[in-house]
Amino acid sequence: MTKSLVQERFGANAAQYATSSVHATGASLTRVVELVAPRPDWHALDIATGAGHMALAFAPHVARVTASDITPEMLTETAKLAAGKGIANLDTKLADAEALPFPDGQFDLVSSRIAPHHFPNQPRFLAEVHRVLKPGGTFALVDNVAPDTDTTPGFSADQLAAADVAYNVFEKIRDPSHGRALTSAGWRGLVAAAGFEVRHQEIMLKAMMFKAWCRNMSVPPALAADLAAMLAHAEPCLAAFLQPKEKDGDTVFMLRELVLIAVRH
Ligand SMILES: C[S@@+](CC[C@H](N)C(=O)[O-])C[C@H]1O[C@@H](n2cnc3c(N)ncnc32)[C@H](O)[C@@H]1O
Repeated sequence: MTKSLVQERFGANAAQYATSSVHATGASLTRVVELVAPRPDWHALDIATGAGHMALAFAPHVARVTASDITPEMLTETAKLAAGKGIANLDTKLADAEALPFPDGQFDLVSSRIAPHHFPNQPRFLAEVHRVLKPGGTFALVDNVAPDTDTTPGFSADQLAAADVAYNVFEKIRDPSHGRALTSAGWRGLVAAAGFEVRHQEIMLKAMMFKAWCRNMSVPPALAADLAAMLAHAEPCLAAFLQPKEKDGDTVFMLRELVLIAVRH
């Protein structure tokens, strides 16, 4: 059900993700390439590639990159962008992140950016990443995270837990295919339990323009009004996390991307 909803929502909005600035030019793209330091003989896999921005960022640095996604329309956008940039070492593959159609130990590098919050079973996704990576291979995870003491200091555990739930509800109202954004500590625990050694992690702050955020998912006006009201009247802990501000007739709010680099045991 969630996966068919993902295909429906992203299939209908694929073109927006090709041009969305948060996805196409977000700072985590260059930061991940810098942290990973890919090698020219590597075969990389980008999971839930969307319009392929992470795969396209790796392409000039590796021998081959496979861009995979569960939504065929997204892979069409990826192939178009690759052709437009003259990138010839990228192939696309329709694939569920939780059941990858690749043999064990095929890849030197596996990445997934701003997508794992859609996966219903994140431990299964991590087990698949572990399976398809070579021993010693690199895993780069980037995802929006929920509030915790690091990102939102000064609040009690109960307030943070309530803000975590409220943030995920906010995302799910905008996009019903949103599953669950974890906290940084939540991801760290899952990644370690899946047989990886976490080598680096950092949080990158990103400013979201409310209107474009709604437009990317074709949010109807009545629902956009509900979301605007949620932002305006958020409880103090959620408000401290999202930091909504009026700007040029729009609302800007902040999200946080966890960038985590790990090595497969
Ligand atoms: C926000 S977009 C990804 C953005 C992209 N990675 C980037 O860096 O610009 C989320 C993507 O996750 C894909 N997706 C969601 N659930 C998936 C699953 N179970 N397996 C593979 N892809 C999935 C969607 O089809 C969509 O293309």
